[in-house]
Amino acid sequence: MPIAFEQVNYIYGPKTPFEYEALKRIDLAIELNKITAIIGPTGSGKSTLVQHLNALLLPSAGTVYILDRVIVANQKNKDLKSLRKKVGLVFQFPEYQLFEETIIKDVMFGPLNFKASEEEARQKAKNALAMVGLDPSYYERSPLDISGGQKRRVAIAGILAIDPDVLVLDEPTAGLDPQGAKSMMELFVELNRNHHKTILIVTHDMDHVLNYCDNVVVMKRGEILTHQQVNDFFFKGEDVLDIEMALPQRLKFTEALRAKGFKLTDKIRNVQELALSIKKEISHE
Ligand SMILES: Nc1ncnc2c1ncn2[C@@H]1O[C@H](COP(=O)(O)OP(=O)(O)OP(=O)(O)O)[C@@H](O)[C@H]1O
Ligand SMILES: [Mg+2]
Repeated sequence: MPIAFEQVNYIYGPKTPFEYEALKRIDLAIELNKITAIIGPTGSGKSTLVQHLNALLLPSAGTVYILDRVIVANQKNKDLKSLRKKVGLVFQFPEYQLFEETIIKDVMFGPLNFKASEEEARQKAKNALAMVGLDPSYYERSPLDISGGQKRRVAIAGILAIDPDVLVLDEPTAGLDPQGAKSMMELFVELNRNHHKTILIVTHDMDHVLNYCDNVVVMKRGEILTHQQVNDFFFKGEDVLDIEMALPQRLKFTEALRAKGFKLTDKIRNVQELALSIKKEISHE
């Protein structure tokens, strides 16, 4: 069953002076069981796009296919709860998602809502909190009295506890330190590779796109500029140069070496290959 957008428009504040077309005739098919990055400048429509995936926003025109559901503009959509069990969305701003008195209650909310017993919900919440790196000393604290990075972890745990098939994460590593961001990305890779979750990640971090994602969708002004495999995007096409976003560190470093006259192999896919290529060049192998 697919995840696809067909001619989807989304208009904020229709027929008001603030009317704004945030998505313009989007056609897009997301591969299941892969990690897809969604990138693009601020205001390009990334958050608007992903909020269609669990029907938090409904299209103003067009059709969204999500697993076994078809969401059509201007139609009543029944039983969105079953969709939200299958597609979990973590908001860009965790404050929108956190509201219980304690962290453990907050993370238990999803499982309880989907009819788990109190005991099951507690167990699922504990597992999810462990996955995002929060130990039991956090359980009874208020989710609003912790740091931005910790709030993000709680918000992610809240969705993991529901165990959806599709995880949609809107800037999940914003506010985390580099090591925390790395562990979080590794958790998503693990969920994809070992638990076959389809994962969509909105991010501004091009290193994360290169290092952890299979496919990349680039948005600009409410449109899809390109949708490619990550390796093709960084190593084959010209699109990567057109999007006015910072290149990943590894590519910047390679380009800087080339500019200084280093002759490096064409496709350097990881740090080890880069090291090898530099070694060859300086030892004239
Ligand atoms: N509630 C709203 N009412 C009116 N306009 C909105 C609303 N939310 C977003 N927009 C507008 O829609 C456009 C797309 O916003 P969106 O939040 O989807 O962008 P984004 O790509 O996620 O940006 P960012 O990288 O800053 O998170 C922006 O121009 C934004 O100002
Ligand atoms: Mg956004």
